[in-house]
Amino acid sequence: MSKYIIEGGRPLFGNVDVQGAKNAVLPIFAACVLTESDVVIRRVPDLADVVSMENILRNLGVTVKKEGDVRILSAKNMNSDNIPNDLAKELRSSVFLLGSVIGRMKRARVAYPGGCDIGLRPIDIHIKGLRDLGVIIEERAGYLFCDGTKMRGGEVILDYPSVGATENVMLAAVLAKGDTIVRNAAREPEIIDLQNFLLSIGAQIKGAGTSEIHIRGVSKLGGTEFTVMPDRICLGTWLLAVASCGGEVVLSGGRKAEIYSLLCKIDKSSCHIQEENGMIIIKASGMPVCSERISTRPYPGFPTDLQAQYCAYASAARGTCVVTENIFENRFRHVPELIKMGVDITVRDRVAVIKGTGYLNGAEVTARDLRGGAALVIAGLAARGRTVIDDIRHIDRGYEAMEKTLSNIGAKIVRV
Ligand code: EPZ
Repeated sequence: MSKYIIEGGRPLFGNVDVQGAKNAVLPIFAACVLTESDVVIRRVPDLADVVSMENILRNLGVTVKKEGDVRILSAKNMNSDNIPNDLAKELRSSVFLLGSVIGRMKRARVAYPGGCDIGLRPIDIHIKGLRDLGVIIEERAGYLFCDGTKMRGGEVILDYPSVGATENVMLAAVLAKGDTIVRNAAREPEIIDLQNFLLSIGAQIKGAGTSEIHIRGVSKLGGTEFTVMPDRICLGTWLLAVASCGGEVVLSGGRKAEIYSLLCKIDKSSCHIQEENGMIIIKASGMPVCSERISTRPYPGFPTDLQAQYCAYASAARGTCVVTENIFENRFRHVPELIKMGVDITVRDRVAVIKGTGYLNGAEVTARDLRGGAALVIAGLAARGRTVIDDIRHIDRGYEAMEKTLSNIGAKIVRV
């Protein structure tokens, strides 16, 4: 398995281009099966999860052409409504295809996506939402057999503002006869990006970004050229790395407005962050003090996808920080690895108490999931001495050539 070797304790200086958003491009790829016209998608990040989604699309008969960070997708000759287990288990986001395959083919046979490292991740809210649109769904032998021949618009009230369930209902409803209203919808920026993509291929939809989304079904959708939004979680990851290590970095492509919940939790006495002409500039001493209380919440609350990276920042800082993970039940797997680096962290249920001393020591650690792996990179960059991070395939799922991005701003990090 590939590893990162990091020589820590160095400030970071230079420029970073924020990659396209993983959690926007995956549902947008799923949306491509809704139209028979070609779609061109720009700023597609080169990620393992994107490759997995491309494989699922090809298996459905969709052609996928790659030209750098551009993909040309055509579902004109789509010839299957089946997502087999070996493909579905590769990617949690295979579940997004439920709505779009039913929307296009009126039927779907999708293997249960299963849980992952951070929790069980059931899909009961997805299933209830699709059933509210008249889809008949039978769960048998690890598969979901879906009949959408009688699907029509309707009222969908989500028990919880699930990002994926909101996206799945949007994808099913855009071609369903009649009007759909989604109540208690998730408000993440990636849902606005999906709405913008759907509008660009001719869907009638409004309200994304609020908890109420209105959709009027249309009979046919067209083609488009669309650029994916920047990845706000990557942006937050880089900001926390600089805040932990010190230095001065200019980030292009990111949007400050999408990470206010993080910015208000970064120590202003040691770190200055400003936005100028579409660039975000961070200047940091690398001696943060952190005595914050963090509670992960649905957007616009503090994002669960930055919780692990924030724990790394708090571990490198001086002070006691309390982090509560409200979204996923198993998202502290980075804590035992951070403890190996010399920080005092105790976890009880969903609450981690981090007593940072301002010092971390390099150690041999293992990435257990995507964002936990990114947290260990931040900690390794801030630590004294050498850190070896094993099983970095997790990191490749969400960060495009992370070692290249960080080396370009002065980090001593190599992939072996
Ligand atoms: C999306 O996952 C993101 N993934 C996750 O990012 C992100 O952490 C999450 O939203 C929350 O923001 C993509 O967009 C590809 P949810 P999703 O449905 O849609 C429970 C990353 O690191 N739930 O909002 O799966 C669920 O178990 C990834 O980039 C049900 O109980 O998240 C969880 O506890 C990780 N039943 C909570 O809701 C359901 O039917 C939030 O899940 C659906 C969800």
